[in-house]
Amino acid sequence: MKTILITGGAGFIGSHVTKRFVKKYPDYKIVNLDKLTYAGNLANLTDIEKNENYEFVRGDIVDVDFVQELFNKYRFDGVIHLAAESHVDRSILNPMDFIMTNIVGTVNLLNAAKIIWKDNPENKIFYHISTDEVYGSLGKEGFFTEETAYDPRSPYSASKASSDHIVRAYFHTYKIPVVISNCSNNYGANQFPEKLIPLCINNIKNNKPLPVYGKGENVRDWLWVEDHAAAIELIFHKGKVGETYNIGGNNEWKNIDLVLLLCKIMNKKLGRKEGESEKLITYVTDRAGHDLRYAIDSSKLQKNLGWKPSLQFEEGLEKTVDWYLENETWLINVTSGAYQKYYENLYDKR
Ligand code: NAD
Ligand code: DAU
Repeated sequence: MKTILITGGAGFIGSHVTKRFVKKYPDYKIVNLDKLTYAGNLANLTDIEKNENYEFVRGDIVDVDFVQELFNKYRFDGVIHLAAESHVDRSILNPMDFIMTNIVGTVNLLNAAKIIWKDNPENKIFYHISTDEVYGSLGKEGFFTEETAYDPRSPYSASKASSDHIVRAYFHTYKIPVVISNCSNNYGANQFPEKLIPLCINNIKNNKPLPVYGKGENVRDWLWVEDHAAAIELIFHKGKVGETYNIGGNNEWKNIDLVLLLCKIMNKKLGRKEGESEKLITYVTDRAGHDLRYAIDSSKLQKNLGWKPSLQFEEGLEKTVDWYLENETWLINVTSGAYQKYYENLYDKR
C-alpha cells in the first residue's frame, strides 16, 4: 500500500483529484491536508469521506513543525501539491497570504520530503501543480511551451513562479524526485464563485451585473477540470522525474465571447428570452497588470504520455451550468458571509 499526500484536496481542482485517486486506487491511502480557507470546502468530498483509504487532516502548510510531524507520521510515498492561494484579484489586495502559502508552504513540504526520503528516494515523487500564468502574457500570436521564459506579472503568478523555481532547485541540489505541471484556466463543478465562470453563473441566476474587466478582450485557454485531473493522474504515475509538462485545452476564448456564451446557455436553462441575461453585462475598471492572453502548447504531454482533452467546451460549459443550478445549497453556502464583504470590497469600487 502506498501512502499519498494530496495538499489542497478540499479546493476546486484538489477535490476532483482526491475523488479520482480515492475511487480508482483502493490500494493507495490518500491523506488530504487542507487548511480549509474560504476556498476549501469538505462538501466537495462527500462521496468519498467514508472510504477506508481516505483520511482528512486539517492543517496549514506554512506551519513547519506540523508539516514535519505529518511526514514523520505517515512516511508518504508521494505528494501531489495543490494547496495554494489561487485568485489573482485577491493577490492584488493582499499579496502576503500568497507569499506565505505558495512559497513558504511549498518549501516546508519540500524540506519535510527531503528528510523522510533522504536514504530511499527511489519510487518517490513530489508533484508540484503550477499554472501557465508563470509564463506571463502573450501577444496575439504564439503559445507557452515548457521552454518559455518565466515572466510573472501578478503577486499570484510571481508566488507560483517562485515555488516552481524552488521545486526545481531541490531537484538539482538535493536530488528530490520532483515533477511539475503548468496548466491553463480550469472550469467545472465546485469552483469557488470568485472566478469568472462561476461568478457569472451565480450573477446571471440572481440578475446581478456581470463585471467584465476592461474591454473584455483578454483571452484565456479553458480546460475542463476533470481533464486536468486526468492529466495529473497520468503525470503522477508516468511523468519523468525532473521534467515539466504543460497542460491546456487548446481552447482560447475572449472573455466577452465566453460571457456571451454563458448568457446564451443560461437564457435557455432559465427560460429567459434571447438577449435577456446579456443586458447584465457591465464593463468595469480593468484588473491591474491584467495579462492579455494565455495559450498553452501541450504537445509534450500529448506525445510523450498520450493525454488529450476529452470534452468540447460548449458541452463542458453546459454541464457546469447544470451543476451550479442543481447545487443551489452549495452555492448559497459559499456565497454567504465573508464572500459578500470580499465582493463589495472588490467590485463596488470598480
Ligand atoms: P482553490 O483556491 O480552489 O483551492 C486551494 C485549496 O488550498 C483550498 O482547499 C484551501 O483551503 C487550500 N489551502 C490554501 N492555503 C492553504 C494552506 N496554507 N495550507 C493548507 N491548505 C491550504 O484552488 P484551485 O483553483 O483548486 O487550484 C489548485 C492548484 O492548482 C493551485 O496550486 C493553483 O495555483 C493551481 N492551478 C489552478 C488553475 C485554475 O484554473 N484554478 C489552473 C492552473 C493551476
Ligand atoms: O491560467 C491559470 C489560472 O487561471 C490559475 O492559475 C488561477 O488560479 C485561476 O484563478 C485562473 O486565473 P485567471 O485570472 O485567468 O482567472 P479568473 O477567473 O479570475 O479570470 C478569468 C478572466 O476573466 C481574466 O482575464 C480576468 C477576467 N475577469 C475575471 C473576473 C473574476 C473579469 O473580466 N471579471 C471578473 O469578475
